[in-house]
Amino acid sequence: MNFQARYDRYLDVFERGLQAFCGDMRYEPPVLTESMRYSLLSGGKRVRPVLFFAALDLFGLPYPERLPLAIALECIHTYSLIHDDLPAMDNDDFRRGRPSNHKRFGEGNAILAGDALLSLAFDLLLRESKEDPRALEAAIELSRAAGAEGMIAGQSADLLYTANETCGERELSFVYVHKTGKLIAAPLCMAAAIAGREKEQMRAFGEELGTLFQLTDDILDMKGESAKMGKTLGKDEKERKLTCVGVYGLRASEELADACAARCLLALKDISGDVGFLSDFVSLVRNRNH
Ligand code: IPE
Ligand code: IPE
Ligand code: MG
Ligand code: MG
Ligand code: MG
Repeated sequence: MNFQARYDRYLDVFERGLQAFCGDMRYEPPVLTESMRYSLLSGGKRVRPVLFFAALDLFGLPYPERLPLAIALECIHTYSLIHDDLPAMDNDDFRRGRPSNHKRFGEGNAILAGDALLSLAFDLLLRESKEDPRALEAAIELSRAAGAEGMIAGQSADLLYTANETCGERELSFVYVHKTGKLIAAPLCMAAAIAGREKEQMRAFGEELGTLFQLTDDILDMKGESAKMGKTLGKDEKERKLTCVGVYGLRASEELADACAARCLLALKDISGDVGFLSDFVSLVRNRNH
């Protein structure tokens, strides 16, 4: 099966599962359910659940039965986007091709939708872990990747380094690995934890892939098409964010992305089994336009 067919297969299992899961949500007051569904079902690329399924598949494990963990991953990612778009953070009006959560439901409701999605993720993780120590290890991976050692640390540094001309390579690398790398590495480490396989090698690959993902996100903020990206572009420069484009310029950033993609492929050599899908995934991230 070629890369696209496999991506679509993982995506299909995930989307069906997520639709059914969201259809069963009945939180009161209804605006809470509506705002959570609005962001969850607004059609992201689902990169993290797809990586999770692909890694389970690589380790020879049946992936559909791990759907709750995949949903937990997407809940945490989606919450991070809702909060990232808030006026107090990036102040973005568009996300995934439509008004961002706070534009649609107001700031208070958007904060709460994010909080609820984060709590929901932990509910899923704990329920899966109740009788399965390997799922518990996966849950610990995700909680660390999401919190103060992970994505939140990156977001905190992102705020701290905004409009700070003294920041350079070291600060940029901290932001990349934490705000994006940790949540891209998490699904790979979670799958390795469940399979009892090479977790640290997966982490090394995943953090490199996450760095590539943010390099291309920064590049696309400068040269991408807003309709394809589904968000307002050109904002990083306007808000004086610390990005590769700001530090190195567009051309050198493209070269850095090429070098990073090469490091991703090198890191894959430490993982045994059929890594073809992950290797093609690196090219997808390097060459993406959305
Ligand atoms: C956007 O993530 C935020 C970053 C980490 C750059 P994605 O590009 O995965 O967003 P969706 O889920 O496809 O909307
Ligand atoms: C966001 O990085 C990373 C997280 C949400 C954790 P960006 O702020 O660059 O993401 P976009 O460009 O808004 O999607
Ligand atoms: Mg941001
Ligand atoms: Mg943002
Ligand atoms: Mg961005």
